[in-house]
Amino acid sequence: MEIAVKTNLTSQHIESFKKIVGESFVVADEESMEKYSHDETETLRFLPEVVIKPRTAEEIGSIMKICNRDRIPVTPRGAGTGLSGGALPHLGGVLLSMERMNTILKIDEKNLQVTTEPGVITEVLQNAVKEKGLFYPPDPSSRGSCFIGGNIAANSGGPKAVKYGVVKDYVLNLEVVLPTGEIIWTGANVLKNSTGYNLTQLMVGSEGTLGIVTKIVLKLIPLPKYDLLMLVPFASLEKASEAVSAIFRAGFVPSGLELVEIDALKITSKMVDSFAVPITDDIAAHLIIEVDGNNMEVLMSDMEQIAGLMGEFEGGEIFFADDAQQKAELWKVRRRTAEAVKLAGYTIEEDTVVPRAALPALIKGVKELGRQYNFHAVCYGHAGDGNLHIRIKKEGTSDSLGDPEMTKSLRALFELVKELGGTISGEHGVGLIQKGFMDIMFDQTQLQLMRGIKKVFDPNNILNAGKVFDA
Ligand code: LAC
Ligand code: ZN
Repeated sequence: MEIAVKTNLTSQHIESFKKIVGESFVVADEESMEKYSHDETETLRFLPEVVIKPRTAEEIGSIMKICNRDRIPVTPRGAGTGLSGGALPHLGGVLLSMERMNTILKIDEKNLQVTTEPGVITEVLQNAVKEKGLFYPPDPSSRGSCFIGGNIAANSGGPKAVKYGVVKDYVLNLEVVLPTGEIIWTGANVLKNSTGYNLTQLMVGSEGTLGIVTKIVLKLIPLPKYDLLMLVPFASLEKASEAVSAIFRAGFVPSGLELVEIDALKITSKMVDSFAVPITDDIAAHLIIEVDGNNMEVLMSDMEQIAGLMGEFEGGEIFFADDAQQKAELWKVRRRTAEAVKLAGYTIEEDTVVPRAALPALIKGVKELGRQYNFHAVCYGHAGDGNLHIRIKKEGTSDSLGDPEMTKSLRALFELVKELGGTISGEHGVGLIQKGFMDIMFDQTQLQLMRGIKKVFDPNNILNAGKVFDA
């Protein structure tokens, strides 16, 4: 394992941290720290020098004051499900785990809001509000294990984003500990806010580089009563991707519109031991289409019309999920795709996003680049958003970071994405592994603005330094 460079951290610092959070919540032995050395990003591993598990914002404030004074790198971490290396302690120093800050503080049924700590598992939060008939839609594939705080850091999306939007659309207000140790609230618990700069939205998606989120106020919406789900096979990837934008042009907004290439479905079905998805030699991809709402007749009619439309794009025999169990089974296969293909050796995952109608061109381009640069790619993702995950397998390469051949291939891919009017991450963030490609998306003027913002929040560059861009 790569041991990070030694920092300014000393045993006296560790003693001070123990006084702040309690002896048992400061861990510095290699064995206990191992699980904090990696997330889900490729096969990357970096050991921190110490792991601290605080319980309150005040404790974090005290820790940050020490680290800021003595220039000790701090990496905040949620559940470690990230795919861009945002939570990797690549500079050593302090790893700040938010795992003990795991209380849902208040569900405000009058205002349709929830206030929570960041270490709550996303699905636990969704289920808690669901019991009150309320809905928090953003649902990354990892919702059963990721933390809501990590979702805010990455501005996560997931399958429901196509109809309901991403995390940023639900965050109303945040309590944040600044790198200097001060504690602030970013806004107000209101649905509209034109008062000053929007610090709340600046925090969302800032990947733990500007502050540590310690309380979160989220907007909720009423839970839709019904949903319908169908699976449409296509003999060509191109046709499947062309069908996507036609659905919206015909006047429908599905609550899920996912595309999964057959190779990914084969691998996942095998791993989860499921026969839910038809897999035959003549199928190149499936579209998973879900609609939801409160009027079953309307949903049935929408589904029928969408099904008819799929015929125009050579869609094959449609499978309708009849009951909750079938629906759950289909979503299980989709949600576990990333994990399954990684286990099958597709270690590198990209998170490209293009305007929806450019999806066919992106998919075609990915396959061409695979031939040109000698890698194998499987595609899946949130087609309705133009957000395509591209999992890459290349003989002898497990990580993209620092691999010159893979860097060349990814540069070509991202240049294509840019040419198509897209960007290099739709929902996973830039973190460590995409930062070398930020120049494709931004010129020096834009990057200098970002660096300026970082400097205002974190003058000593101690908080998640070297992520997103080099300060
Ligand atoms: C997904 C994750 C990897 O869509 O974003 O499965
Ligand atoms: Zn995704």
